[in-house]
Amino acid sequence: MRVLGLESSCDETAAAIVDDGRLVRADVVASQNEVHARYGGVVPELASRAHILNVVPVVQAALERAGVGLEQIDGIAVTNAPGLIGALLVGLQTAKALAWVTGKPLVGVHHLEGHLSAVYLEPNPPPMPHLALIVSGGHTSLVRVNDHADVVELGATRDDAAGEAFDKGAKLLGLGYPGGVVIDKLAQAGDPAAVPFPKAMTAGSTGAEFSFSGLKTSLLHHVRAHGIPEGQALADLCASYQAAIVEVLVRKTRRIAQRERLSHVQICGGVAANSALRAAMRAAAAADDLTVYVPSPARCTDNAAMIAAAGYHRLVRGERAGLDLDAVPSMPLPRRA
Ligand code: KG4
Ligand code: ZN
Repeated sequence: MRVLGLESSCDETAAAIVDDGRLVRADVVASQNEVHARYGGVVPELASRAHILNVVPVVQAALERAGVGLEQIDGIAVTNAPGLIGALLVGLQTAKALAWVTGKPLVGVHHLEGHLSAVYLEPNPPPMPHLALIVSGGHTSLVRVNDHADVVELGATRDDAAGEAFDKGAKLLGLGYPGGVVIDKLAQAGDPAAVPFPKAMTAGSTGAEFSFSGLKTSLLHHVRAHGIPEGQALADLCASYQAAIVEVLVRKTRRIAQRERLSHVQICGGVAANSALRAAMRAAAAADDLTVYVPSPARCTDNAAMIAAAGYHRLVRGERAGLDLDAVPSMPLPRRA
């Protein structure tokens, strides 16, 4: 089954063509980083406008790269929740129009279900059940993946997402957007032990919740007291700030994997592209006898191949959305009672 995937929930306009939820024939992403960089974060109205300009060319590019026509597509999958409403609507309306003119089946995909599915596009995907750490610009949660259609959120962040902590930290340091990428790069030359940042929610807490807003505040206090450093001191500050985020993510994931008796763990979402997180997770895995699965860095950040992969499983189960499929800005994953 050949699926055309569409993604426009935030600041990436993406289209992809994936066969049988596994084989990527085309994966096109138009990034809006340049549009939002000067504001230090995504401006929703500008995102909607850029999606409108990009969506048709991106779909055309995906078809061209795959060397297929619309008549050779078996189904269409589109992110319909959660995300920026104006942004979601652009991909959704495009997908509906394509479904209507081609008569092909349509399914809506939850954006996080998409992130969870990126790893199935790798040569060696995780078995079921497994634990997933979703770390993106909008979400940070630990999820038990029992099956493609059965995911349960065990805990999430109480305040900022991990990606938000990177982005807000970078903004505070005047480093631009998206902050995670810049901090990751600068941190490579820095000492992660240079500045002692708080590692919130690790000590007394056994739950799966996270909190990152205190870390951001302590960076603010640090900058107020010492100013924004340059050169080596800036690299040290970035490395220390990044290390605080990574340590909390890894500690919680290890603890919950043990509690849930799950020995296979995937990390996904934009922050899973972070080199320190990938390295720390692999080191922890070796120590705990866990197997860790991470999508390639380009499939950690938003893309449509992951949406096509997730949509494939919905289509195979016989799911079909009508042309009344709606965009929903906020839609939590099912939680454990
Ligand atoms: O998954 P994603 O593309 O969009 C959302 O669904 O939110 O994630 C974007 C987030 C941004 O916060 C960005 O700063 C972060 O992922 N990110 C990174 C890295 N690359 C992207 N964070 C840390 N290190 C990276 N290398
Ligand atoms: Zn995302």
